[in-house]
Amino acid sequence: MSSSRVFSPLYLLLSISLLLQLAIALNPIFHECNTTSFTPNGTYNENLNTLLSQLNSTTPLTGSGNGSLGQSPDQVYGLAFCRGDINSTVCQACITSAAIEIQQYCQYKEEAVIWYEYCQLKYSNLDFFGQIDYREAFYYPYFNNVSDPVSFNTTVMKLLNIVEGEAIISPKLFATGTLEVGNSTTLYGLVQCTPDLSSANCETCLDWIIGFVPRLLYGKEGGIIMTGTCELQYHTYPFFTT
Ligand SMILES: *[C@@H]1O[C@H](CO)[C@@H](O)[C@H](O)[C@H]1NC(C)=O
Ligand SMILES: *[C@@H]1O[C@H](CO)[C@@H](O)[C@H](O)[C@H]1NC(C)=O
Ligand SMILES: *[C@@H]1O[C@H](CO)[C@@H](O)[C@H](O)[C@H]1NC(C)=O
Ligand SMILES: *[C@@H]1O[C@H](CO)[C@@H](O)[C@H](O)[C@H]1NC(C)=O
Ligand SMILES: *[C@@H]1O[C@H](CO)[C@@H](O)[C@H](O)[C@H]1NC(C)=O
Ligand SMILES: *[C@@H]1O[C@H](CO)[C@@H](O)[C@H](O)[C@H]1NC(C)=O
Ligand SMILES: *[C@@H]1O[C@H](CO)[C@@H](O)[C@H](O)[C@H]1NC(C)=O
Ligand SMILES: *[C@@H]1O[C@H](CO)[C@@H](O)[C@H](O)[C@H]1NC(C)=O
Repeated sequence: MSSSRVFSPLYLLLSISLLLQLAIALNPIFHECNTTSFTPNGTYNENLNTLLSQLNSTTPLTGSGNGSLGQSPDQVYGLAFCRGDINSTVCQACITSAAIEIQQYCQYKEEAVIWYEYCQLKYSNLDFFGQIDYREAFYYPYFNNVSDPVSFNTTVMKLLNIVEGEAIISPKLFATGTLEVGNSTTLYGLVQCTPDLSSANCETCLDWIIGFVPRLLYGKEGGIIMTGTCELQYHTYPFFTT
C-alpha cells in the first residue's frame, strides 16, 4: 500500500506553468476537491455515505464499481476501480482507505477524487460517467537521468503506444508491456483509463498524456502522468504483476 500522505503542489506548479496543466505528485498519491461544500449530515451526505459503502463492497469483486443514489439536488454519482493487475485483497485494502480518506481530505465537498498507486475513487453531484477529465492532472518524473536520452525517448514512446493500443481494446482499459532499451535495460510500461470511458475516449485521453511524455519526462529513467480519467507509468524495473 502507498502511504496515506497526500501531497498537493498542483496549484503551485500550475501557477508556474499553466501551459502544462499538470503538476508533480509525490508517491503516486494525490487528491482533488471541489470548492463547493454540502451540508454536513444532510441528505447529500447520507447518500454519499451509502454510496461509498456500496462501492467499498462491490469494487473489489470485479476491480471496478460505480453507482448513483438519491434525487437531484442530493443525487450523488460515484466510481471506484483498482489498477488492472491488482488482486481483490489489495484492491479491498486500497478502496477501504480511499472511502475514509476521501472524506478526510475533502470534508463535505460536493465533488472529490483521490488517487492511490493501486486504486482511484471519485464522487460528484454531477453525472461524470464517460467524460474525459483533464481538469485534474499531474506528473512525476523519476529521478535518474538516462545516458542516451534520444534512443530512450524513442523506446518509451514506442512502448507507450503499444500498450495504449492494447489497453483501448481490453475490457479493463488496462495494459502493461516491456521493451528492451540498449543491451541490458528493460523498460516496463503501464497505461489505464477509468472503466466508464469508451474505447475512443480512452484513446483520446491516453493520446493526450502520452503526448506530454517527451516534454515532461524527457531523459528520465521513469515517470508517471495521471489525469482524472487516464494514467501512464514507465520504469526500468518491474512494478506491475503479470
Ligand atoms: C467544481 O465543480 C464545478 C462543476 O463541475 C466545476 O465547474 C468547477 O470547475 C469545480 N471546481 C473545482 C475547484 O474543481
Ligand atoms: C454530524 O453527525 C456526527 C455524527 O452523528 C456528529 O458528530 C456531528 O457533530 C454532526 N455534524 C453537524 C454539523 O451536525
Ligand atoms: C469497507 O470494507 C471493509 C472490508 O469489508 C470494512 O472493514 C470497512 O469498514 C468498509 N468501509 C466502509 C466505509 O464501508
Ligand atoms: C495479492 O497481491 C499481493 C501483492 O502482490 C500478494 O502479496 C498477495 O499474496 C496476493 N493475494 C492473493 C490472494 O493472491
Ligand atoms: C539530470 O539532468 C538535469 C539537467 O541536465 C540536472 O539538472 C539534474 O541534476 C540531473 N539529475 C540527476 C538525478 O542526475
Ligand atoms: C521523442 O519521441 C517522439 C516519438 O518518437 C518524437 O516525436 C519526439 O520528437 C522525441 N523527442 C525528442 C526530444 O527527441
Ligand atoms: C550491445 O551489444 C553489442 C554486441 O555485443 C555491442 O556491439 C554494442 O556496442 C552494445 N551496445 C551498447 C549500447 O552497449
Ligand atoms: C457501472 O457498472 C455496471 C456493472 O458493472 C456496468 O455495466 C456499467 O457499464 C458501469 N457504468 C459505468 C458508467 O461505468
